[in-house]
Amino acid sequence: MAITKNNLSERDVALKKIRDEVLTLEDSPLFLYRTENNYLPVIGEGSHIAKIMLVGEAPGRNEAKSGKPFCGSAGKILDSLLAEAGLKREEIYITNIVKDRPQKNRDPLPEEIEMYGPFLDRQIDIIQPRVLVGLGRYSSKYLLGKFGLAEATLPISELHGRAFEAVAPYGKVTIVPLYHPAAAIYNQRLIETLKKDFKILPSLLPPDL
Ligand code: URA
Repeated sequence: MAITKNNLSERDVALKKIRDEVLTLEDSPLFLYRTENNYLPVIGEGSHIAKIMLVGEAPGRNEAKSGKPFCGSAGKILDSLLAEAGLKREEIYITNIVKDRPQKNRDPLPEEIEMYGPFLDRQIDIIQPRVLVGLGRYSSKYLLGKFGLAEATLPISELHGRAFEAVAPYGKVTIVPLYHPAAAIYNQRLIETLKKDFKILPSLLPPDL
């Protein structure tokens, strides 16, 4: 199905299909853990015509309980970073690379990224953001790798706050790797870096938008 510009209903339908598929993703290594704990998958939230998409790592406990991304302690930090950058949560789209909570908030495994990555790819093609933000090293690496950028191998300490140009099937996209907001919970100094990096996001949108 072709996704035409600003056609909300086609986007809604295509995104709902992703939700339905993830809900029944029995092949996922995280499916049993989800159902045993009455958790929900976290598909994504926000505007379906967002020009900025944020991609986190994986849901934590609060997110898996509510089905909403970044609604726990990392979410509070994210909200304040967005507010300082002049961005409204409802105008952007927030998702994760892995849609189910990994046990004890451990880092996502390669096979989990492989399982859920294609859903993220579809979300990107449906929403067609102009700025794609990786929150943390896993999503930053995934996004840079997906667009064939050699910098995918660099550590997040060398990537954060830089803008990388790429071409998506729907047009130009700027990829911005950032530190994960949760990193600031344990490292107060990172909050200043995150604030500075978040503030560049609005300036990366093309002037016609
Ligand atoms: N951390 C993430 O990467 N994603 C969430 O949704 C919550 C915390």
